[in-house]
Amino acid sequence: ETVYAYGMTLIPGVIDAHVHMRDPGLTSKEDLRSGSRACAKGGITTFLDMPNTNPATISQKLLEEKLTLAANKSIVNYGFFMGATLTNMEELKNAKRTPGIKIYMGSSTGDMALTDPGLLEAIFAETKLPIAVHAEDESIIDKMKLELAGTRNVVDHSRIRSVEAEVAAVKRACALAREYKHRLHICHVSAGASVEVFEDHADVITAEVTPHHLFLNIDSYMNLGTLAQMNPSLKTAEDNEALLQALLDDKIQIVATDHAPHEFEEKCGRYPDTPSGVPGVDTALPLMLDLVAKDKCTIEDVVHWMCEGPALIWDIMEKGRIEVGYDADLVLVDMNKTQVIRSPNMETKCRWTPFEGREVTGWPVRTWVCGKEVYHDGKFDESRMGVEVMFDHKRGGYWEGVED
Ligand code: DOR
Ligand code: ZN
Ligand code: ZN
Ligand code: ZN
Repeated sequence: ETVYAYGMTLIPGVIDAHVHMRDPGLTSKEDLRSGSRACAKGGITTFLDMPNTNPATISQKLLEEKLTLAANKSIVNYGFFMGATLTNMEELKNAKRTPGIKIYMGSSTGDMALTDPGLLEAIFAETKLPIAVHAEDESIIDKMKLELAGTRNVVDHSRIRSVEAEVAAVKRACALAREYKHRLHICHVSAGASVEVFEDHADVITAEVTPHHLFLNIDSYMNLGTLAQMNPSLKTAEDNEALLQALLDDKIQIVATDHAPHEFEEKCGRYPDTPSGVPGVDTALPLMLDLVAKDKCTIEDVVHWMCEGPALIWDIMEKGRIEVGYDADLVLVDMNKTQVIRSPNMETKCRWTPFEGREVTGWPVRTWVCGKEVYHDGKFDESRMGVEVMFDHKRGGYWEGVED
């Protein structure tokens, strides 16, 4: 087949290392079919899904059940994190077919917060797989909740989920990674102050930032209200700038969405009864390509942050292993296409976006997974399913793969 692509740009498929596809158990928000279609349309050819589903992914058996679900539902490639609980140390030690262990240091959707300091340390001491953390200190969050008792405005969400809460948890996680020489990845960094903590630990620690923490801030509550409620919370415009600079300086290595769909109706409730999280897979690549159009970074930067970086951090690629299914994951992008982000155009089941009304330049138009076209100009081909991602945790992570 001849593909006409005059004036277009071909890039590797995006690997989104942090999504919540809500399958099994929360499929009114999203499922592996709808979520994977949204990925294909957004130029994402692989996603790594978090364990806070129902049931939560906390054993090998449950992880493999998810893999089976995905084999039947996902049109893009997939992998699943194993979640840490008070009682599943043996599962964490022996986990296979997973990018790593996810630890929630603070509370969020799914109530998986692990606040016992001894147990946190034991996981770093006794397990081998890379660890991804949701870094927010629950005791600092609780203290602020008490101080603000009685208030019922979503703006308080950013005071409760404070910079201090993130910085404290980042410090703790970094200290443990350093002490036990354990590979650590800090999910969705939201505050510039956090970057200053982990930049000294670059040999064992990597970090990610989401498009919403790059492009939205506390002023966004004005228009979005509880739609802008997520964990970690939005911070200030200065934090937006500091996070983008950290990406440019290689202090934060990757962009991941933290795609966390909730139904529009649930999101429109009254704070704090509203759920935290925003969808992101439909809009992440266009938002980042728009930075190229605005001359803030290069397309090579975007490819590094969204394609190469996640593959290196989670050991997805290895020389000689291209036959596993990572050859020919490709996205054709139209760098000159300008379009306004509109909720009805979203493919995610929740069909809303916090970026509603934003005009961005640079859109994916065509996506291939393992050489098979899965998306082209508004149409999907669901005749081929995605494949399970292989992880080679012997290869040593991000810093091994980056050339000076
Ligand atoms: O805002 C969030 N939503 N933060 C999380 O950590 C979890 C996520 C979700 O699953 O809804
Ligand atoms: Zn999180
Ligand atoms: Zn998340
Ligand atoms: Zn492939």
